[in-house]
Amino acid sequence: METTELKERPRNLGGSMKTPNVQALAADEKKLTVEIMERYIRPEMNGDDMFSDDSSEDIPVIDMNRLMDEMSMSREEEASKLKHACEEWGFFQIVNHGVPEKVIEAMKDNIKGFFGLSLEKKEEVAQLPGDLEGYGQAFVQSEEQKLDWVDMLFIFTQPPHFRNFKHWPAQPPTFRDSLESYSRELQKVAHSILGFMATNLGINREKISELLFESQTVRMNYYPPCANAHDKVVGLTPHSDPGGLTLLLQVSSVAGLQIRRNGKWFPIMPLPGALVVNIGDILEILTNGRYKSIEHRAVINAKEERISIAAFHSLILGKTVGPLAEIVDKEMPLYKSLSMQEYMKLVLFQKLNGKGIIELMKLNP
Ligand code: OGA
Ligand code: NI
Repeated sequence: METTELKERPRNLGGSMKTPNVQALAADEKKLTVEIMERYIRPEMNGDDMFSDDSSEDIPVIDMNRLMDEMSMSREEEASKLKHACEEWGFFQIVNHGVPEKVIEAMKDNIKGFFGLSLEKKEEVAQLPGDLEGYGQAFVQSEEQKLDWVDMLFIFTQPPHFRNFKHWPAQPPTFRDSLESYSRELQKVAHSILGFMATNLGINREKISELLFESQTVRMNYYPPCANAHDKVVGLTPHSDPGGLTLLLQVSSVAGLQIRRNGKWFPIMPLPGALVVNIGDILEILTNGRYKSIEHRAVINAKEERISIAAFHSLILGKTVGPLAEIVDKEMPLYKSLSMQEYMKLVLFQKLNGKGIIELMKLNP
């Protein structure tokens, strides 16, 4: 596949309207006027259909050690578990993923440290108008739009020449080193999972590079508690991830992530030490729909804050987002092909809206 490498990341990707800092709002009850809360309250949260707790189903857990063990019979068993997880769930957890515990713990400490700084300090890396990198909110395109109960820090981490340290917090002092190691380790894990997916999809070893997601962005989410209306606001609007493969680290011990499964919301509580993996829209398109991206959302706790770190792995600019030749030489393509640049424009000029991107990419919607 042709690639034209860009020297730095493009700057004209659109941004988000400035909205109030949610952490500061949540910290001061006096600020929570009816008018302000009106922008966050979601009538549709009433009557939400939840999975019952006694459901016998549980999200698949993939053991990366077993997948990598070339000598063992368990490898095939685990590969077929991964296939099932990709085809039937779109969401799974991985354990024994090989990211050193000290890298994860340092990342957790540093992000807690960052969100614990004063607003003024955090705003040293605030998003700038028309841009999406930095500390702020994402996907706000109009005054009428309902807002999410979250602040986020969004950073381009890979490829390394896309980094702009202006957006990387200088406080806590170990933040940058820690994010850099975390980013590198997670990219290794993403590549390893994609390799096993390619084998499951029957894609030739030499062609796997077409599936490799060399770009990575990291979004660190801070969901403050919402004492008087936690069940009426949303931390993150239902959406599927527009990238290829997401690896999520839950930093806090309170639950919040929910996925839409058979029309109902299914809560996910990560195992200690696990990473949550999910299929994004690009992987759905590349696999011509064999793997599907899954809608998910984050809900809010009444008493406790929640922090999560999502690493999005995606195609680099210059590549094409479209069904892989190796797959559509045997079947009809179901999705359009766009350059990565055009695809990013499509994504970034809309608000979050369920599987909206996929609807736009379908050839016969
Ligand atoms: C995301 C996301 C879920 C969470 O950042 O795209 O879905 O649990 N996060 O924070
Ligand atoms: Ni997401």
